[in-house]
Amino acid sequence: MEIIIVENYKELSQKAAEIFLNQLNIKLNSVFGLSTGSTPVGLYNKVVELYKKGGYDFSFVKTFNLDEYYLISSENKNSYHFFMNDVLFNHINVDKKNIFIPDGEVKDCDAFCDWYEKEISNNPIDLQILGIGENGHIGFNEPGSSLDSKTRLVDLSPETIKINSRFFDDKNNIPRQAITMGIDTILKAKNILFLASGAKKAKAVYDMIYGNISLDCPASALQRHKKVLVILDKDAAELLK
Ligand code: F6R
Repeated sequence: MEIIIVENYKELSQKAAEIFLNQLNIKLNSVFGLSTGSTPVGLYNKVVELYKKGGYDFSFVKTFNLDEYYLISSENKNSYHFFMNDVLFNHINVDKKNIFIPDGEVKDCDAFCDWYEKEISNNPIDLQILGIGENGHIGFNEPGSSLDSKTRLVDLSPETIKINSRFFDDKNNIPRQAITMGIDTILKAKNILFLASGAKKAKAVYDMIYGNISLDCPASALQRHKKVLVILDKDAAELLK
């Protein structure tokens, strides 16, 4: 893993946006793996800002999102569909037919997950954006997830449900499951751009980098990947030597 430590979240977002857009410059029809949550918001904002200044074309790009809650409608403002449209897709010239996000309402989950996994195999991800949960999850691969896991329906841990409840007005309506790319799916990406910000992530980041590869910290599986760029702000890096 290559590790870059920057001063703060603003710098992290700036650096991540440069890498994201550089991928587009290298390959016009890049396939991006995308993440949601608080961490990549600054990256997406910066990408939109630079796109609006001109010179970038997303019309040949394909995107695959890591995960989506289950059950949730794509119109629900807490869905990852809504989030992605709001922060990124509505502001760039990506072709809607090239956007792939797990379907939070699909009836036959197994068939859908097999299809999603095949689409990713047929369109290998050039650059996967990743964040990390305080419990070491990547995507919604919670501790205990198999390192060989593929796209599937998972139960969210009580800790993740609690942490993510900050976004939901009605606490009774927080989804308890999600469809997520598996750890094996994520590791197939050609390049991974991993982002973490804030002291709350410091322990998980430490375990990811220095811990044994273990089901207890799903992100530790990234040690097996040859091209992971880790960008941390100072707080997220506070436990690193
Ligand atoms: C989101 C995702 C999650 C988040 C993680 C951190 O698509 O896959 O693994 O990256 O929960 O979330 P934030 O950035 O909100 O702290």
